[in-house]
Amino acid sequence: MKDSSGRIPREVVSRLSGSKRLVVLTGAGVSAESGVPTFRGRDGLWRNHRPEELATPEAFKGNPELVWSWYHWRRNTVRQVLPNPAHDAIARMESKIEDFVLITQNVDGLHQRAGSEKVLQIHGDLHYARCSDCGAVIALEEQEGMITCPMCRGPMRPDVVWFGESLDVGLLTQAYNASERSDLFIVAGTSNVVQPAASLAFAAIRNGGYVFEINLDPTPLTGSASATVIGKAGEVLQELVRLAWEEEE
Ligand code: OAD
Repeated sequence: MKDSSGRIPREVVSRLSGSKRLVVLTGAGVSAESGVPTFRGRDGLWRNHRPEELATPEAFKGNPELVWSWYHWRRNTVRQVLPNPAHDAIARMESKIEDFVLITQNVDGLHQRAGSEKVLQIHGDLHYARCSDCGAVIALEEQEGMITCPMCRGPMRPDVVWFGESLDVGLLTQAYNASERSDLFIVAGTSNVVQPAASLAFAAIRNGGYVFEINLDPTPLTGSASATVIGKAGEVLQELVRLAWEEEE
């Protein structure tokens, strides 16, 4: 069912309240209501920065200062904003359903700040740096400029996945396994164009799962999703949680 009025189909509500294995997949649209720019579409981050200039291993090799300054800027931006009702609703779902996995393409850490714990950050986390030589990972706070590894003095890079790089195999396997065995798969705020994340909902569908999509606009998934609501992630997810467990409120 496609619903562009923002109304949540009753079947989605009953599937959530009865779910035994829930997966939520999020993208940049979920952080948009916190004031974090998305990558594509209106006000997209990539509008001002071509991805191949900044988010590739080649870019980092050619101009590491520029790439680091972009990541420091993004990290500082994210530190100044707060999780929004979308993050809160997803954390609430985790508190209600034992077998729960949140798969996020976001690198901003806002889900964790909202209280989510079972999070697979398949594109990494911009609050961390990883040594290109020894692989050590450190948390970033106020640092600026280039980062040197405290263990081996090697050059560090943002601990994120760049274009042309593979995702962590272990994380991806967990993401596929959870998607394939989910009885409800909620996809919120992603354009569903970046692989392999975009294939997770299809893995759920192939295995008989029920996919519910929330986005401001239709995406390549919309025609295949079991149900879609066109609307803001924060509003729709809050309403969904309220309806699913309203008798307990
Ligand atoms: P995109 O910027 O591609 O898509 C954001 C989606 O969110 C769009 O489909 C918008 O319509 C939707 N959207 C915006 N605001 C919304 C709101 N308030 N409520 C609901 N939907 C909203 O972001 P992603 O799909 O996350 O990868 O992009 C995927 C990956 O592409 C990113 O993780 C990043 C980028 O390359 C890496 O950095 C590896």
